[in-house]
Amino acid sequence: MERRILIIEDEERMRRLMELVLVEQGYIVKTVNDGLEGMVLWQTMKPDVVLTDLKMPRADGFEVLDFRNRLFQQVPLIILTAYGTVQSAVTAMKQGAYDYLAKPIDNEQLIEVVAKAIAETRNQGGASRVCGLQWSKMVGSSPVMKKVYKDIALIGCIRMSVLITGESGTGKELVARAIHTHSERPDSPFVRVNCAAIPRDLLESELFGHCRGAFTGAVNDRKGAFILADGGTLFLDEIGDLPLDLQPKLLHAVEEKSVTPVGATKAQTVDVKIIAATNHNLDEMIQSGLFRSDLYYRLNSFHIPLPPLRKRGKDLIELVEYFLDRFCREQGHKSLTIDAEALKLLHNYPWPGNIRELRNVLERIVLTCKNGVITSEMLPEKIKWYCTATKKKDKESFDLPAQEKQLIAAALENCGWNQSESARKLGVSRNSLRYRMKKYNISRMR
Ligand SMILES: Nc1ncnc2c1ncn2[C@@H]1O[C@H](COP(=O)(O)OP(=O)(O)OP(=O)(O)O)[C@@H](O)[C@H]1O
Ligand SMILES: [Mg+2]
Repeated sequence: MERRILIIEDEERMRRLMELVLVEQGYIVKTVNDGLEGMVLWQTMKPDVVLTDLKMPRADGFEVLDFRNRLFQQVPLIILTAYGTVQSAVTAMKQGAYDYLAKPIDNEQLIEVVAKAIAETRNQGGASRVCGLQWSKMVGSSPVMKKVYKDIALIGCIRMSVLITGESGTGKELVARAIHTHSERPDSPFVRVNCAAIPRDLLESELFGHCRGAFTGAVNDRKGAFILADGGTLFLDEIGDLPLDLQPKLLHAVEEKSVTPVGATKAQTVDVKIIAATNHNLDEMIQSGLFRSDLYYRLNSFHIPLPPLRKRGKDLIELVEYFLDRFCREQGHKSLTIDAEALKLLHNYPWPGNIRELRNVLERIVLTCKNGVITSEMLPEKIKWYCTATKKKDKESFDLPAQEKQLIAAALENCGWNQSESARKLGVSRNSLRYRMKKYNISRMR
């Protein structure tokens, strides 16, 4: 049986040399140039032996070793070490690495160590475990979403920070929960902190906890989210809204894997997978000094961008069918169909509130539809209105006020006509929103 070897090494010459030597020995060899790619490939390639460098950009050799210790303990990991890092290689061996090879690598020694490691896996019957996949809750088979599912499966098993970005309602929280479900610790805690919804003073204690008497009102000790999520996942939702002055403390907690509750003197070690999400453009926020770049790079070890619904093609039809079926069952309705004209309007509409907006629209329609077929007249005004407006726009010229009016109306509709929330999502003040509502004569339509 052919044996597979994975080489993780950022020096290209070294990678190629080892590949040549091992291919000549009849092994199937794959090479990657950093630890993250290595861990990702590991799960699909199922290597019999892995060789990894220690110092690499993104994930280093110790992160690869930690990954191996959690998921693929039967696969021997050989450390490649440069002059001056032998001590680290010894530390790695104490933590479970099979052996180490000092650079420059001696070809004979390489062949010998790999052969010995292979013989050992044979005795143990080889082994690889890949996380199982179940997409029971996520609908959509467009190529962009297939890539997202693949990323979820891969990153679930890697203890690396993940940043999920995407417009409001694109499913960021759903993806965060799916990553947790597909991790090797699905039964461990999943703790969500909404950084936008908690006032600054409470947020610090929400994240890190506090001791009794730390501030007025702190009558008892309180565990923070990091401690509550220990052993599991901490989901930092709306991370773009984390106040600037709290960012260094978060960075420290993520880097050092330890937290100090407000008012405490001693730090506590924690082991959490961090998933952050935002609909803000963090690059722009960094440019304007509102978000720290060091925290951004730390959280963004692995990025999952979620496309807006309007870029997911036929997913819309799949989602419509899914939600209609679900709401009919939930509301004890017999099944509903949607006519071609109505479907066309749904396709043309840009869905600024994405899947949440689609879900809300369909839930309301199922409540009111009496005759088994959804027609275009039953759709909300904003969707019909958009269609008329765009038809007009095609005939006339580019109409900025009409677009602004439509965007505001969609945001309000999307936020259940809550003006503060709509203003926040639109990035304008509440007064400015009120002024525009008056200007464009926008009021709640039924
Ligand atoms: N692919 C999908 N399949 C089925 N339902 C989905 C999908 N994506 C999102 N949803 C549903 O849409 C709603 C919004 O999703 P979610 O809360 O995860 O979005 P979000 O990106 O976190 O939004 P926000 O930025 O406003 O917080 C939820 O009810 C979720 O279950
Ligand atoms: Mg969300």
